[in-house]
Amino acid sequence: MKTVGIVGGGQLGRMMAMEAKDLDVEIFVLDPTPNCPASEFATQVEGDFSDKNTVLEFGKDKDVLTFEIESANADALIELEERGIEIHPSPKTLSIIKDKFKQKEFLTEHGIPVGSYAKVESSEDVKDFAKKHDYPVVLKSRRGAYDGCGNRTVENEEQIESAMSELGEGLYIEAWVPFSKELAVVVARGQDGTVYPYPVVETIHTDHICDLVASPADVDEKVAEKASALSAKIMEVFHGAGVFGIEMFLTKEGEVLINEIAPRVHNSGHLTLGGANISQFKQHVLAVLGESLVEPLLKGKAVIMKNILGTRNAPAKPTGIEGAEALGALVEIYGKHDTKVKRKMGHVTVVGESPEEVKQIILKAHSLISI
Ligand SMILES: Nc1ncnc2c1ncn2[C@@H]1O[C@H](COP(=O)(O)OP(=O)(O)O)[C@@H](O)[C@H]1O
Ligand SMILES: [Mg+2]
Repeated sequence: MKTVGIVGGGQLGRMMAMEAKDLDVEIFVLDPTPNCPASEFATQVEGDFSDKNTVLEFGKDKDVLTFEIESANADALIELEERGIEIHPSPKTLSIIKDKFKQKEFLTEHGIPVGSYAKVESSEDVKDFAKKHDYPVVLKSRRGAYDGCGNRTVENEEQIESAMSELGEGLYIEAWVPFSKELAVVVARGQDGTVYPYPVVETIHTDHICDLVASPADVDEKVAEKASALSAKIMEVFHGAGVFGIEMFLTKEGEVLINEIAPRVHNSGHLTLGGANISQFKQHVLAVLGESLVEPLLKGKAVIMKNILGTRNAPAKPTGIEGAEALGALVEIYGKHDTKVKRKMGHVTVVGESPEEVKQIILKAHSLISI
């Protein structure tokens, strides 16, 4: 039996381990939180995944390693790969992507369209950038950000200092993209080079946090083709097997720009769990193991997912799940001990034949759940 080590044991690691249950593998996760979400389906090693020595120690005796979070220590993974441990996707890809500014530079060098951005060393850099691109601008942490926690929208010069001090060191800036929609593509690559994208989805964010994902995206064929072509190009420039999540902005002019790339399973692919013949999580584990990938197909003409976000700070107490399931919703709760405001605690997916019908059911089902 192969041993697979996942660096990170949050909900993404949990769903990977859960989906690997019927495969001949033993899964280990490295995570600092005692009884992390993945620990229900995997053996947890408690430790800091951003610490080099901890990752070296965790990885040294596994047959194959992967990661569920960009903060995974890339230097340790590069060193383990040099020592002969298999790691998917490539840790070099992780080290480019984990710094969002470096990632943007890399995309630009490879001719992939992104919005305007610049390095920030002082508030003068923000002022200069805003002179060229106008307010609002988006100040972002280069590393370690997730679910909007590393972003501040700056509306005017007066807001620069407070946004900078809230975010701390290591920043860059982006021009505001007045998008008409946000799109995403989840793509899987096998070790034999097979590339299977899932259909282009629309993602809706509130306060920089993903709220709802609808598949397929309601866009005309030309836009869907542009998004697919861009994701194919991105898969050519980033190396490694596994699942990647590609976030995009669709501009009012019909142009598609890349927002960011995740070298891992992604929130925009959660609806594939129960909503497709193969979930992104199982597909990723197959890729990591060097098995053949499965060609993905949605189970209905419309599949929609809505995140369950915490609305208070207290121990988690999920209720209303049976009621939501009775409406036909698939409910996934991540087993986090504490609920926190805006923290991702679970999600609901509904599969059906029309987006209108599915949306009605999902909003009803979602409203019944509290956590
Ligand atoms: N330059 C931008 N212009 C407009 N909206 C943005 C911009 N950058 C981020 N956002 C909004 O914030 C969300 C989260 O930002 P993102 O940089 O993807 O951070 P995270 O790492 O939290 O996903 C985006 O999906 C989008 O809704
Ligand atoms: Mg994002």
